[in-house]
Amino acid sequence: MKVATHHLRCTECGAVITGSAVNSIFRCPDCNGLYDVIYPWSPGTGSSDANNSNLPNASALRWLWQERRTSTLPLDQSGVWRFRDLFPILENLDNAVTLREGNTPLYDLPRCAKAIGLNWLTAKHQGMNPTGSFKDTGMTAALSVAADRGFEWVACASTGNTSAAMAAYAARAGLRSIVFIPEGKIAWGKLSQSMDYGALTIQLKTDFDGCVRILTDLVTRFPIYLLNSVNPYRLEGQKTPAFEILEQLDWQVPDHIIVPGGNLANSSALGKGFIEMQRLGLIQRLPKISIIQAEGANPLYRWFMDSNRIMRPVTADTRATAIRIGNPASWRKAANIIDRLGGWCEQVSEQEIALAKAQIGAEGVGCEPASAVTFAGLKKLVALGKVAPEERVVLILTGHTLKDSQYTIDYHRGELLTEAENAQISASDQALHTALRKPPIVLEPDSDVVLHALESHMKLAQTV
Ligand code: F0G
Repeated sequence: MKVATHHLRCTECGAVITGSAVNSIFRCPDCNGLYDVIYPWSPGTGSSDANNSNLPNASALRWLWQERRTSTLPLDQSGVWRFRDLFPILENLDNAVTLREGNTPLYDLPRCAKAIGLNWLTAKHQGMNPTGSFKDTGMTAALSVAADRGFEWVACASTGNTSAAMAAYAARAGLRSIVFIPEGKIAWGKLSQSMDYGALTIQLKTDFDGCVRILTDLVTRFPIYLLNSVNPYRLEGQKTPAFEILEQLDWQVPDHIIVPGGNLANSSALGKGFIEMQRLGLIQRLPKISIIQAEGANPLYRWFMDSNRIMRPVTADTRATAIRIGNPASWRKAANIIDRLGGWCEQVSEQEIALAKAQIGAEGVGCEPASAVTFAGLKKLVALGKVAPEERVVLILTGHTLKDSQYTIDYHRGELLTEAENAQISASDQALHTALRKPPIVLEPDSDVVLHALESHMKLAQTV
């Protein structure tokens, strides 16, 4: 079935090309800008009037998307392809590769909300995707395009989650995949996934930004399909959680979405989803989108605070290895979405990330460190008055807690932070850490010993 009706538009110079005309590095040959996928309903295409009868009808879409939930077809069961009417990117829909991604839960976080004086706080848990991160929603889309265009090899540079997702979807499609990861700088869970799914895994003795440089060179020399988030088809899948959030909230637009920032593609993908929904009349207003970075990997935060607005790459370092990125490819897209939707950019310390992660974990939800920056950043936004108590806030939790279990174990054993880092924690946060830490207790197999330990644990629990 032929369904493709899209073009690519350079986000810098506005040049429009057909999807198949794009080069192997997904950059405009004239100005080096990145592309957005555009459709007849995209802003600036001249035919984006929501009343235009040639455009998808809002109520019909809502009904169709709801209907597909009861279908047994694999594409309808996917929480990404269920919305395929708003991303017609394949020549042949039979080439779509799905692991039934999406359909991720919204969890309310009442204790986290109370701790910072909010009435309503919820988390969209993208870690509940098949490979444990939000990358699946983008990979199902872009890898399907690779299959649709007849590629045999696909590749990405990654801090671990993109590579896990790519390896899985490539395996499903019967394509061969190559993963470039920074040696020693990714969580074991993620490294194990790319091996498990049969990718050729190359650990380069450099950081993520170095991996990107090598891969960008390689794809110009070999027919390998690049699956980093400069590939705009990734973002078409990554915009669909915006549709899901609205469905899950009965089409009541939340006030604020908080997203972690690494290579800085996801924030703009979600923004694109909300903007397209507004153009089509599915929603009447847009939420704000704020982006949170780790202090040690904060180029967008620096740009945001710089009165001259100059982007200066940094040498990145953070224990939230997923977002250990100093030269983010999609920073301008992210900057545009903050400006357009009126959000904010914040940075958070290692101590703040650790505490936020433990608080999310204590709600029975859990997430990986890079996802916890959202709650750590939200605390700052509330303190700065950028988020008011009555606002309805959605945190995007991007990865599953099991992705980086070593971080969690180190935290609870008190081995994560250095003495110097611990010394900087305020007394009130220190008390929270003490209450949240649950290190494993090693005991002799004797019931009296166990009972004694239980009694002292209960006494301690009453004092905090
Ligand atoms: N959270 C997690 C868990 C991630 O893995 C990433 C990015 C981000 C947030 C940031 O998203 O790059 O769109 O701003 N991980 C990439 C990877 C870079 O290779 O897995 P972004």
